[in-house]
Amino acid sequence: MISAKSGSTMAFLDTTPREPVFLVFGRSGWIGGLVGELLTQQGARFEFANARLEDRAGILADIERINPTHVLNAAGLTGRPNVDWCESHKLETIRVNVLGMLNLADICFEKKIHLTTYATGCIFHYDKDFPEGSGKGFKESDKPNFTGSYYSYTKAMVESLLSEYPNVLVLRVRMPIVGDLLYPRNFITKIIKYEKVVNIPNSMTVLPELLPYSIEMARRGLTGIMNYTNPGAISHNEILELYKSYIDPDFSWKNFSLEEQAKVIIAPRSNNLLDTARIEGEFPEILGIRESLIKHVFEPAAQQKDTLREAVRQMRGRV
Ligand SMILES: NC(=O)c1ccc[n+]([C@@H]2O[C@H](COP(=O)([O-])OP(=O)(O)OC[C@H]3O[C@@H](n4cnc5c(N)ncnc54)[C@H](OP(=O)(O)O)[C@@H]3O)[C@@H](O)[C@H]2O)c1
Repeated sequence: MISAKSGSTMAFLDTTPREPVFLVFGRSGWIGGLVGELLTQQGARFEFANARLEDRAGILADIERINPTHVLNAAGLTGRPNVDWCESHKLETIRVNVLGMLNLADICFEKKIHLTTYATGCIFHYDKDFPEGSGKGFKESDKPNFTGSYYSYTKAMVESLLSEYPNVLVLRVRMPIVGDLLYPRNFITKIIKYEKVVNIPNSMTVLPELLPYSIEMARRGLTGIMNYTNPGAISHNEILELYKSYIDPDFSWKNFSLEEQAKVIIAPRSNNLLDTARIEGEFPEILGIRESLIKHVFEPAAQQKDTLREAVRQMRGRV
């Protein structure tokens, strides 16, 4: 049963008491796959969607087939090998991340279904009002100030439009991290692999800790925007120092400036601190980013540090 927090939300959701049934978009994706594994572990009733986001009839058929109480959306275009892809595929990006996303939200609204969407917090950037190192984080109510990449530009636009839908929870994911340090999409794997990295503190999402919260937020019927990161920020060098101390004392790396980084990527990337008061209010047990990384990534990884160290050395040798 959905227990919406605000009275106004109740009117927009079907609150008939019944066991939650989840319809998940993004079966073949990283986060969608992890959400499916988690729902399976929880013994929750769920199915993956078959429809493409831009296919209204297909989504309606999925809803007819599953009769979900909740939709969890981890589908979207993220670009391969990275978001630079969106710079040269603008219409595809609009079709999926804007039209498709709104299509899904609109159908869920019509059907009175709660929708949680794994979105992005890469729509903010440190500036004079939110200086790096000041500890002042962007709140859920702050307007995006980073549209430097086409990916972020469309995500910022669609967040603003989604916030009009009273049945939708938008989770601002940032630099997602998992325990597998060889998984190529893991933010830590990326920075271990690069020859040079920038060194900037950022808010990040430790998925093994935070994904269960997303399911719980859906069950609670939360809506609106949620900064979906662990509290605090951690820099690239601080993470690599943790790698050095838990896994490989001989590990070394080089830093470069944002200007130098700009020469090896197409679109600028965002760096920011998000304010986490809202998620901390819902989950007071949430760990700060450093503690979460130690518990969910580095301590488990240290159990097999010899094989991991060798695999990482080989991976770096291939780059
Ligand atoms: N990974 C990150 O660094 C990161 C960071 C912040 C936020 N996020 C956000 O989190 C969400 C999930 O990210 P992810 O890393 O799990 O992405 P991913 O691994 O690239 O997976 C994307 C998923 O979306 C599906 N998809 C793509 N176009 C679709 C369409 N038109 N209709 C239906 N499904 C479609 C893909 O299915 P097919 O393979 O069948 O196309 C795939 O299952 C995205 O919205 C992303 O913006 C990711």
